[in-house]
Amino acid sequence: MSRLRYLTAGESHGPALVGILEGLPSGLPLESSDIDRDLARRQRGYGRGGRMKIEQDTAEILSGVRFGFTLGSPLGLLIRNRDFTNWQMRMGAAPGGPDPHPVTIPRPGHADLAGGLKYDHLDDLRNILERASARETAIRVALGAVARTLLRDLGIQIGSFVRSIGEAEAGPLDEETQRLWREDAEALGLRADRTETRALDEPSSRSFVEAIRRAQQRRDTLGGVIEVVATGVPVGLGSHVQWDRKLDGRIAQAMMSIPAIKAVELGDGWQAAHLYGSQVHDAIKWGAQGLSRASNRAGGLEGGVTNGEPLVVRAAMKPLSTVPAALPSVDLTTLQAAPAHVERTDTCAVPSAGVIAEAVLALCLADALLETLGGDTIASLRQPMARLRLSTRARAGHLFVIGPMGSGKSTVGAAVARRLGLPFTDLDQVVETRAGVSISEIFASQGEPEFRRLESEALTQVVQRELGVIAMGGGTVLNEGAWQLMRRNGAIVALNAPPEELARRLLRNERAVQQRPLLAGADPTQRLHQLVRERQRFYGRADVCLNTLGLNVEDAAEMVIGLTRSLEGRIAERAREKSSDLPPESSGMAGQDGEE
Ligand SMILES: Cc1cc2nc3c(=O)[nH]c(=O)nc-3n(C[C@H](O)[C@H](O)[C@H](O)COP(=O)(O)O)c2cc1C
Repeated sequence: MSRLRYLTAGESHGPALVGILEGLPSGLPLESSDIDRDLARRQRGYGRGGRMKIEQDTAEILSGVRFGFTLGSPLGLLIRNRDFTNWQMRMGAAPGGPDPHPVTIPRPGHADLAGGLKYDHLDDLRNILERASARETAIRVALGAVARTLLRDLGIQIGSFVRSIGEAEAGPLDEETQRLWREDAEALGLRADRTETRALDEPSSRSFVEAIRRAQQRRDTLGGVIEVVATGVPVGLGSHVQWDRKLDGRIAQAMMSIPAIKAVELGDGWQAAHLYGSQVHDAIKWGAQGLSRASNRAGGLEGGVTNGEPLVVRAAMKPLSTVPAALPSVDLTTLQAAPAHVERTDTCAVPSAGVIAEAVLALCLADALLETLGGDTIASLRQPMARLRLSTRARAGHLFVIGPMGSGKSTVGAAVARRLGLPFTDLDQVVETRAGVSISEIFASQGEPEFRRLESEALTQVVQRELGVIAMGGGTVLNEGAWQLMRRNGAIVALNAPPEELARRLLRNERAVQQRPLLAGADPTQRLHQLVRERQRFYGRADVCLNTLGLNVEDAAEMVIGLTRSLEGRIAERAREKSSDLPPESSGMAGQDGEE
């Protein structure tokens, strides 16, 4: 780890687990519920033992966050071990001991013997097993949830699912899960959470449950294979120039550090070793989307650098070493043969290992991202991130204009489109046309959630049209799905102005105020201030932001075009130089010179 460092401490039955994460940019919105969600996901899964019923993990944020935003200072997290109340006499820090029940018979496969010999704890192997226990992964999941929040904010999603448990293999992914696998890994992981084994479908989950039951009947344990996927990953994370900067190596190391993970595969890893090169490597194409791949067998990494395709990592977990029908071992006090110590144990922890692997991948990717983009503040990461995201494109794609009411989305958006000779679309109008009624009527009769659903449908339709400039609704930014669509399909510009100025512009036209359902009722100025405050963090996510205070429409349009151009990379430049090679089907930002 170079840019984002973390350390954890804590014993399994000690008072608490603690973690420190250093290197986060300032200004990232963070709430403990973001962390607790993943802690709960780690604790679920068929096959876990009694401990998970005692612990209901929640994280306390000790430092690094104020009023819901990161400060840029080290983040401190704490998870209390509820079980400590039962272990106070045996696991306290005060002088005392020895433990009346020392562990002296090491478990084959666990850290007991090797650790006991190394640290001279042969009299009580608990001094080793307490820290070697996978309880430590709870705090890693908490730190990983913070890294995931950073990545999500920048358009990267991470998810996982279980591929096999013991001999039981999952069936093939259906069409919808394949789409999520390519486009939204977080939704993929949440879909896996719906089954008790984190399989992506019920029949696979039933076969996993059956395998775990058989292991329980024979008083045994089982491992399996998890798959972790990251989508929205830009080109260019990691580097080919030095062994310890290669992201494939760093991911493999991070995955291997999860207890009981014994093999890691990137893309088609093992299977590729049996095939010809022509059957394995992902052909490069030039088309309307710029440079793209015909397949993703490499799993999103070539030369230790991300190539813009989803990251695909598989990890194999061995069967847990605390086998209830105890394995042969030796009592280190008597040196006589004896059945190994049996600590309360899981039968299978593969479903949880997927959630842990998501956390570990999130930390690894966030580190690589910060290393590549720099950034002491979250705002300073946006533009370089957009540049990476758009770097394989021949054109920036659609230009999405977001911002609060009165920021000039429609007027400036239309002027930008005119200058570039592109079609202009007002998303609110598309919603109204499709619904056959006004937005106020939709709000009045069906409420805001239904309006947001109609808005998402309209956006899905609009992005498939010819490239153009699209003014988004003021609240579209609240919808994560809309962000993913915008990021996949173009560049995002936010227009903004101080709330007083927005109010002044809006109140000039009383009818316009009445037409906006969210300003209805109470004092519209006060309501507008509140809306801007609530949504500011979302508008701030745009690739570039322009404050339109004091600008006329044409000046603002010119600046928007300039800012969008600044996001384009060498491929877009090259495509413009060789415009005859451009695929003919659509026109776009980079293909046009406009009037400026
Ligand atoms: C989520 C999770 C839960 C685990 N639960 C157990 C368990 O209940 N019993 C056990 O013997 N090992 C369990 N392990 C595995 C051990 O922690 C691991 O095998 C041990 O620390 C030795 O490390 P190694 O297998 O990486 O060499 C678990 C691992 C994970 C990831």
